Amino acid sequence: PTGFRVLTGDRPTGNLHLGHYFGSLLNRVRLQRAGVETFVLVADYQVITDRDGVGPIRERVLSLVADYLAVGIDADASTIFAHSAVPALNQLMLPFLSVVTDAELRRNPTVKAELDATGDRPMSGLMLTYPVHQTADILFCKANLVPVGKDQLPHLEQARVVARRFDERYGRAGDGSAPVFPRPEALLSNAASVLGTDGQKMSKSRGNAIELGMDADTTAKLLKRAVTDADRHITYDPANRPEVSNLVLLTALSSGREPEDVAAELGDGGGAALKKAATEAVNEMLAPVRARRAELVADPAYLLQVLRTGNERANAIAEATLSEVREAMQM
Ligand code: ADP
Ligand code: NA
Repeated sequence: PTGFRVLTGDRPTGNLHLGHYFGSLLNRVRLQRAGVETFVLVADYQVITDRDGVGPIRERVLSLVADYLAVGIDADASTIFAHSAVPALNQLMLPFLSVVTDAELRRNPTVKAELDATGDRPMSGLMLTYPVHQTADILFCKANLVPVGKDQLPHLEQARVVARRFDERYGRAGDGSAPVFPRPEALLSNAASVLGTDGQKMSKSRGNAIELGMDADTTAKLLKRAVTDADRHITYDPANRPEVSNLVLLTALSSGREPEDVAAELGDGGGAALKKAATEAVNEMLAPVRARRAELVADPAYLLQVLRTGNERANAIAEATLSEVREAMQM
């Protein structure tokens, strides 16, 4: 054990894709292999934060578990669990909410963006308190390291503030000298966004994603339609040629090469050769992931078992933390 405990996770709002793979999943597998204790949260309750019609969440939870296992997250080494199966998570929200102000929640960039977007329409209380929701996700297991992108730093700062204020207000020694919670640190990712076939950020909801579970033919069709530009000379120049560079990068990441080398080799081959190279590299890299995923999806009882085991572990830890919290609060 490294002494690090990491909390990561996803909302079950759609199938995971190459953006998730290169942007976060590979990193989780690396942390796990380095002996870091990893918690992987399927944030099913969070789906109702900003969506009215949510559909069958339970099926998407199992699909996410299949994605995790297929890319190499190890169900024995990591704890994969669903928020809705851990009631103590929500109980932690109450004392946490008592140490934040509505003004600071309104200043949180995600909440503020939502407030701006909703205008005169009402915003749910769950949306307003979303940063505290995330705080509970992080603090329940006393995670001390949280992989985040730059945009999520304010959430992590909120978790640190809640941890500090909780310990100051309710801490066992009354003066914050016997902290219940660690102050979680950010593991900042500087990975560039993977673009989708339309040249915008690859996203679950834009219809521009190469999903991990797609078959090779669908992948080929989607990449064939990918946006490129008129210059037949292939270069790696993300600032000036984002679409072409994204395909070069996908090819490079998928085949363990440098983007500059991939571009040089393609030379004056044009968009068609680039798409062919990207398709081959992506399909070859994903072939074992897809084969494993297909086996997993065919065995829902196993996926449920993995989730149940993770839920039990997460529940035990959440209950223990809640006991400490109540103890500190003299409840
Ligand atoms: P949500 O589950 O909230 O909809 P997203 O699916 O947008 O979240 O993304 C979850 C995380 O996956 C992001 O914080 C980021 O680390 C990673 N990710 C998602 N899309 C991409 C992308 N196109 N490129 C790189 N990383 C991505
Ligand atoms: Na998204």
